[in-house]
Amino acid sequence: MRKQILILPGDGIGTEIVREAVKVLNYLREQRGLEIELTHALVGGAAIDATGKPLPEETLAQAKQADAILLGAVGGYKWESLDIAIRPEKGLLGLRAGLELFANLRPALLFEELANASTLKPEVVAGLDILIVRELTGGIYFGQPRGVRVLENGERQGFNTLVYKESEIRRIAHVAFQAAQKRNKKLCSVDKANVLECTELWREIVTQVGKEYPDVQLSHLYVDNAAMQLVRAPKQFDVIVTTNMFGDILSDLASMLSGSIGMLPSASLDINNKGMYEPIHGSAPDIAGHNKANPLATILSVAMMLRYSLNQNAHAEAIETAVRHVLQQGIRTADICAVGETPVSTSAMGDAVVQALAMEQ
Ligand code: IPM
Ligand code: MG
Repeated sequence: MRKQILILPGDGIGTEIVREAVKVLNYLREQRGLEIELTHALVGGAAIDATGKPLPEETLAQAKQADAILLGAVGGYKWESLDIAIRPEKGLLGLRAGLELFANLRPALLFEELANASTLKPEVVAGLDILIVRELTGGIYFGQPRGVRVLENGERQGFNTLVYKESEIRRIAHVAFQAAQKRNKKLCSVDKANVLECTELWREIVTQVGKEYPDVQLSHLYVDNAAMQLVRAPKQFDVIVTTNMFGDILSDLASMLSGSIGMLPSASLDINNKGMYEPIHGSAPDIAGHNKANPLATILSVAMMLRYSLNQNAHAEAIETAVRHVLQQGIRTADICAVGETPVSTSAMGDAVVQALAMEQ
């Protein structure tokens, strides 16, 4: 049976980078017998322009039916003045919530060839291989009540609510412990248990779940300390598990360890490993339309899709090897280019990956 993949390019550089990832998928379909069928749909600003809504019902329905989803990025200057409830970002959050994609896996891996592209010293980041497991459908992103209210004295007050149920903490903890079991068996849970009751509960439940995984070494850090440790000595980490918002922040931070935010893929999974795959970077409206964004995070997201949702390990590894070869050849987009090197375009980078795949045969 052919696997159905829903392609959601979104906005900004989303359309450019997804185009390159689709090149890779089409190559595998046409030349390597990968049995997939691609369908395109609208989300984010593109969907607002066409239908008035960031997540049209039809897109959500298609996403529910698909075996896996590839998403580019959403958002842009054009839609920034819209009410927060109907902004492009709501399309992405609606997909995460609607598909119950509670487990967001964000690997921060340094390709050896890019040790010099990081702003940190090569010896601090060489060999880096961290997995951030971010809770994705709860916490302050979705907590109620939320909004802006007018106080008795006429002053406005903004408010959001940080909430986690035990069951939500437990299920993300299990994902993280199991990921750690397949890696170096170290899990660091990040919270702010010294100040926030909600994350005090987080720490308690993660510790409880940990009893079921005696082979995994569990530690806890407050988020401020975790941020410092990530830039001071990132290689002390194996798997990190944290809340929705802390995970958002720490994964951007971790991306710079690996040279560029343009390199980091992600998988957002439900309880059955159905998933949506996307680069962790955003729509980068400042460089959109210039054919200069780095498509590798999206191409590596395709590799994650093949591995986690489509059970196609060999194809996943082929893509990762092709990316490594391209980097070894010195092919670089602007974000990972050293001084004096000439960057290639988004489409040239995509072509280079397809060419490297073809060479592997
Ligand atoms: C991410 C992004 C999103 C988030 C935005 C675009 C809503 O920053 O995937 O990390 O905050 O989750
Ligand atoms: Mg983010």
